[in-house]
Amino acid sequence: MLRMIRRGCRALCGASCHTIDQRINGTGNTVQLANPESKNVKIAITGDNNRVTVEPDCVLKNVSISIQGNGHVCHIGKGCIFEEYAELCMEDQDGRIEIGDRSYFGSVKLSTAEPGSSIRIGQACLFAYDIDVRCSDAHSILDASTGKRINPARDVNIADHVWVAAHCIILKGVSIATHSVVAAGSVVTKSFEDDGVVIAGNPGRVVRENITWDAKRIIARDSP
Ligand SMILES: CC(C)(COP(=O)(O)OP(=O)(O)OC[C@H]1O[C@@H](n2cnc3c(N)ncnc32)[C@H](O)[C@@H]1OP(=O)(O)O)[C@@H](O)C(=O)NCCC(=O)NCCS
Repeated sequence: MLRMIRRGCRALCGASCHTIDQRINGTGNTVQLANPESKNVKIAITGDNNRVTVEPDCVLKNVSISIQGNGHVCHIGKGCIFEEYAELCMEDQDGRIEIGDRSYFGSVKLSTAEPGSSIRIGQACLFAYDIDVRCSDAHSILDASTGKRINPARDVNIADHVWVAAHCIILKGVSIATHSVVAAGSVVTKSFEDDGVVIAGNPGRVVRENITWDAKRIIARDSP
């Protein structure tokens, strides 16, 4: 089934025509879009029983959701903003991408592959630009003597209110606790279970503890 939905101009996107291009091949797929502000959105599904949900009050600009295989769930919570560019890619089967309400993304790529693997991002998160989050390495590394795979997919869990600065990579098996910040250019390979830390570097390590953050610029030199 090929469907093309054209929407009227909406002020937030600043473009004259908004298009959600849905290319769905398979059976039992559902796409529920609660009327997002949208510009250049593509949803491509090849497979069966997949579900894409976008809750109300979202802004989707230059967003591509690409699903191959069966039983995937992609859920974008209320009031999320994808400001510049996003690719959400799901392969194999029964993957999940879940994004909590009011999270913001500059530009990001989220990839799930391998059966049952997931990326969960909490509420009120802030992702800057050029960020890659993946729960699978996509290819296999094998133990040379046993032939067994040593790099299986592992879920990624980013809690509520986490700020991921520009140019970061978050790899399989990583959990990041609430109120934390990932510093620019970091490569996060391990989990950080304590709330309110700054993780920085390659590989990411804790460089500050007992912090929180605010998207507002509070001008420190004017503080008492
Ligand atoms: C995360 C960040 C905000 C932390 O700032 P901060 O709290 O002032 O931290 P500091 O600069 O004092 O650095 C603290 C320590 O972490 C290290 N560090 C900070 N950023 C780092 C980075 N990106 N990579 C590696 N180490 C880093 C510092 O060298 C310092 O180490 P030291 O204690 O051994 O001297 C800042 O590093 C950052 O990433 N800024 C970019 C934000 C961004 O991308 N904005 C785009 C719009 S969302």
